[in-house]
Amino acid sequence: MSPTLKFFFVGATGYIGSSVLERFLDHPDASNFEFTALVRDPRKAEKFKQFGINATVGSFDDAQLVEDLTAAADVVVDAGNADDLGLTKSMLRGFKRGFQKTGKPSTFIHTSGTGVLVDDAAGLRTTDVIWNDADPDQIEQLPPTAPHRDVDLEILQADKEGYVRAYFVLPSTIYGMASGKFVDAGLANKHSVQVPALIKTSLDRGQAGMIGKGLNIWPNVHIDEAADFYIELFNAIKANPDAVGHGRGGFYILLNGEHTLYDVSKEIGRALVALGKATTEVPSTYTQEEVNKYFGGSNYLGTNSRGLANHSRSIGWKPKKTTQDFLASIGPEVEEIAKSKHL
Ligand SMILES: NC(=O)c1ccc[n+]([C@@H]2O[C@H](COP(=O)([O-])OP(=O)(O)OC[C@H]3O[C@@H](n4cnc5c(N)ncnc54)[C@H](OP(=O)(O)O)[C@@H]3O)[C@@H](O)[C@H]2O)c1
Repeated sequence: MSPTLKFFFVGATGYIGSSVLERFLDHPDASNFEFTALVRDPRKAEKFKQFGINATVGSFDDAQLVEDLTAAADVVVDAGNADDLGLTKSMLRGFKRGFQKTGKPSTFIHTSGTGVLVDDAAGLRTTDVIWNDADPDQIEQLPPTAPHRDVDLEILQADKEGYVRAYFVLPSTIYGMASGKFVDAGLANKHSVQVPALIKTSLDRGQAGMIGKGLNIWPNVHIDEAADFYIELFNAIKANPDAVGHGRGGFYILLNGEHTLYDVSKEIGRALVALGKATTEVPSTYTQEEVNKYFGGSNYLGTNSRGLANHSRSIGWKPKKTTQDFLASIGPEVEEIAKSKHL
């Protein structure tokens, strides 16, 4: 019998994390897996135990706890916060301790994002700059100031030093409402980040909004297919760790199609009109006051972020859903968010 593989999940109640954890619970080898999760809501932690997960109550700021849980794990799946350097440093201390004890580097599947690829288009232009996840030399050109990059660089250094094997998953705009037993049990966040943010602000202002002219381009991937990737990656590592790129050669972009911000906002506008929440489908530009109010002054949603998922596909990941599916998912999400906000 092979020894039990100890997993530590960071962000288990999240949109991505819960979808991934659910798939690991259903893995054919799951009887050999032990799952631990760091959960900040004690009621959720209690409920997680009913699913056979050792849920420890705590926050990303509990440095010693994060370090200890990481040190005890063979595999860490992190879908917590791609920008939390403190959390990352705590995990890396844990990996180092684990390595000093066992002499074997643990596996670190870290969720970054294609936010690292962004420019400053402010919705006014598209770009021809396309980042290839199978080209480490190109990825290395990303500026250290790019979103998520400070965290990624810290992890890259740890991988280089050899005490952890790090794999960077870079989802693009993930869409679709998460589903499954954790959502049904009220344990998981079922909404993504970008499109729901546009929907909520559009509902608030009574018209779909966009940054600038909405000409900027982002890629998209469905939540189920994004979550499937983590399993494909894990299986590939388990089958032959030396055949799977890690560290500087370990970037995996998740996308299967692209959209302009305008396309998305237009679709939100259509749904708002159908629900009687707006009188025009046509999106308008967020004023500077609105950008300040809704997005903390950031034009992030007006950036371009373009990539190729060549490396992700090379390990056997085969996403099927396209931009058409993405745009079709927006109407139902507008309805759901409008209902939940009793608007
Ligand atoms: N969604 C996307 O389209 C997308 C695309 C690319 C990259 N990403 C990145 O992936 C990461 C996860 O995204 P997501 O959409 O899954 O977000 P999410 O649904 O908000 O999940 C975040 C998870 O982290 C937990 N968490 C946050 N702060 C915590 C703290 N201080 N202590 C303990 N737990 C904490 C949350 O717990 P609670 O349930 O208690 O809040 C939740 O489990 C983010 O960094 C995001 O930038 C997301």
